[in-house]
Amino acid sequence: MNELVNLEEFYPTANKHADKPYNMGKLEDFNGHAKITGPCGTTMEFWLKVQNDKIKKVSFITDGCASSIASGSMTTCLLEGKPFKEAMAIRQQDVLHALEGLPKDNEHCALLATNTLKAACEDYLSKEKMNNPAATSGLSKGTTPQGAGN
Ligand code: FES
Repeated sequence: MNELVNLEEFYPTANKHADKPYNMGKLEDFNGHAKITGPCGTTMEFWLKVQNDKIKKVSFITDGCASSIASGSMTTCLLEGKPFKEAMAIRQQDVLHALEGLPKDNEHCALLATNTLKAACEDYLSKEKMNNPAATSGLSKGTTPQGAGN
């Protein structure tokens, strides 16, 4: 059973995001997606729309507690409009810092958010690789990877 933690009293920033989350809901137009269930049983999903190496849109949903909603919301707020590389580099501590803390027992909610975001970034990269192998493998157009061992 999840114990109720009073975010309102001790964590006003997290409480604000839990009460009125930003970017909650599925994106219709996306090129990166991931869904992860953490050890506590909470599931989080992230959707990304990457364009010109920037995060054009990012959204999330979760079936978890207030802290996981706050973590998902803050993660999206930190990234919208930022370079794709920043999405890959974001860490649990960045989200906790921006939220001005979470209850100790809920700090893992921020980790679930950043892990899910990273998985969505990896999904984007793997789709990019399939659509445009030369762009991500360093091979120029017309070059075939065969020939090794000839
Ligand atoms: S309680 Fe586990 S993600 Fe929030």
